[in-house]
Amino acid sequence: MLAISLCLPVSLQAPIDDVVTAGRSAGDWRLGDAAVGTVALQLNAVLANDAFEVPGVEVLRRRKGRTAMRVSSEGGQFFAKRIELRPLRKRVGAALGVQNRLFGYDHGVAELDNTLYVARTTGQAVAPLALGTFRRHGLPQAQVLIQPWLEGYLTLGDAWQQADTVGRRRLLDEVQCLIRRFHQVGLCHLDFNPTNVMVAADDPGEMKVIDCARLIRDVPRPDIASALQVGKMLRSLYGRHESELPTRLNQAREMLAFVTDSPVSAEQDALLVLALRYQLSKTISIRRLVRATGSLDLRSLEVRALRSYKNAALRGCPEVSQVLAALPSAGTRVAATSSAAQRAEEAAMAHCDSGPGPARR
Ligand SMILES: Nc1ncnc2c1ncn2[C@@H]1O[C@H](COP(=O)(O)OP(=O)(O)OP(=O)(O)O)[C@@H](O)[C@H]1O
Ligand SMILES: [Mg+2]
Repeated sequence: MLAISLCLPVSLQAPIDDVVTAGRSAGDWRLGDAAVGTVALQLNAVLANDAFEVPGVEVLRRRKGRTAMRVSSEGGQFFAKRIELRPLRKRVGAALGVQNRLFGYDHGVAELDNTLYVARTTGQAVAPLALGTFRRHGLPQAQVLIQPWLEGYLTLGDAWQQADTVGRRRLLDEVQCLIRRFHQVGLCHLDFNPTNVMVAADDPGEMKVIDCARLIRDVPRPDIASALQVGKMLRSLYGRHESELPTRLNQAREMLAFVTDSPVSAEQDALLVLALRYQLSKTISIRRLVRATGSLDLRSLEVRALRSYKNAALRGCPEVSQVLAALPSAGTRVAATSSAAQRAEEAAMAHCDSGPGPARR
């Protein structure tokens, strides 16, 4: 029933070797594991008709043209993600198997390619089992990625909510090991947040990074990527509370020093505060930022960050440089109990808090 088809983007050839067309179905499937063939057939209806009421297919979430599903088949449980390809240039990108500004970064081919790369270089991604492509007028219109179902895992965000202080410390230790691994191989996950890290419920040491569509390899200065990832992750987990900034910065410094294996520089320090404080991606191209080779213009980054409505609450607050000037420099631990001066400083900043509850992203 499965016939070999040879037209495939070159970038995808390894290690998913066999390319199969499942019968007269709408989808062309590239299977890395023959056992997943029945899942592919199950998903053909989803792929062809945008019909999600298919036996064995449970929709977990639909968001921005992406539909996450759990598929139960005779071969077990699988995770599948349907990616709608819009606009037209992304359809061309998926057809050519390229990732760039013109043809888009987050089509199914990019996610497959990047996830395989992360799995190979870090061992901390879930290697995909298959990629299905549904074409219209000759061009890919939607793609489906199939991965093993992570049984007994939950998102880092959920694990964090459930953990006590000791559990949270352990999770942070593992997160810093994960960032260190990425640092060592020069990778930057552009959507590094608590929903895109999965943790085994019974072993926080078992972490997997998912959703690797937007990723940069061979970053020239991994310290920039790592500082951004440390800061963003802490901001996502704890929420943005200006009064807690000294504590959070201290934590971030320790994590970054562990990740880079060297003391935190003044530039890295400022980048940490930027990432802890601001949501950067709305008005700053993180892709361009982590590709920087020279020193950064941090003041202009802050000005741009403040243009975003997401950071509106921080307009009028002390600048990053002023915050840093008021705190002990990197390498000096902030005292566990606040001094009177520090409490006064915190009180002055308190009105800048963005509100209670951890931010998810
Ligand atoms: N292999 C897997 N096994 C079990 N659950 C998974 C697996 N991969 C992802 N999930 C769950 O599905 C959710 C969505 O997955 P993913 O982030 O890849 O999709 P997405 O639609 O691109 O998400 P978003 O765009 O919202 O970040 C994850 O947050 C996680 O809860
Ligand atoms: Mg996600």
